[in-house]
Amino acid sequence: MLELEKVTAAYSGSKVLFGVDITANKGEITCLVGRNGVGKSTTMKAIMGLVSTPSGDIKLDGKSIFTLPTYSRAKAGIGYVPQGREIFPQLTVKENILLGMEANPGVKEIPQEIFETFPILKEFLERRGGDLSGGQQQQLAIARAVVSKPKVLILDEPTEGIQPSVIQEIGRVITRLKKDMAILMVEQYLEFVLEVSDRCYVMEKGRISMSGRTDELDKDRLQQLLSM
Ligand SMILES: Nc1ncnc2c1ncn2[C@@H]1O[C@H](COP(=O)(O)OP(=O)(O)O)[C@@H](O)[C@H]1O
Ligand SMILES: [Mg+2]
Repeated sequence: MLELEKVTAAYSGSKVLFGVDITANKGEITCLVGRNGVGKSTTMKAIMGLVSTPSGDIKLDGKSIFTLPTYSRAKAGIGYVPQGREIFPQLTVKENILLGMEANPGVKEIPQEIFETFPILKEFLERRGGDLSGGQQQQLAIARAVVSKPKVLILDEPTEGIQPSVIQEIGRVITRLKKDMAILMVEQYLEFVLEVSDRCYVMEKGRISMSGRTDELDKDRLQQLLSM
């Protein structure tokens, strides 16, 4: 379980997050939604230690990781797929996946279940990452983040720039993965959020303005908050 408690964040002194509380539980997909520029990606960077966080706390399974450097947070069990995915285009699919294994020295070879979850990657193992389609690259980025068996998987807009038919594939993949980990996902595509998420947080100007179980959310208000 991942818990953010009153987390603030700032870029060169200018505050972007003003006390954010979010909990992501194992077995669930938790979504963070909100309009452009409200601080969703900054929240993900705060979890990974990639932005200055003057106050608050972040706990993984009850233990604070708040002051740890980024690599230690990854080692502690947080897998992160940043917005824009950032796979290595010159490296093969296999090499990209092998790089993800470095976060967990206990994982010595690529676990076979990776290929059960991502059959397309097995087929394209020797192909260069840059030669894959957008949807395949997103799957590769997720595979690279989960190959080290993280406790929490963080996804920042996994459907951005991906064809609708392939979005269903991403939904299938993360629904399969959630039984083993907590998934925290930033997502703009509301239909997808309502379909796959168990819990939802809405962010406005660096604050959480609404949250709850997805099936209990006021959908009209949600739509309104996102379209204003
Ligand atoms: N590296 C940065 N330096 C300075 N300001 C930034 C940086 N990244 C984001 N911001 C600002 O922080 C705010 C929140 O950005 P971000 O977290 O990326 O929003 P979102 O992901 O919700 O679209 C925006 O006003 C943005 O301009
Ligand atoms: Mg963003």
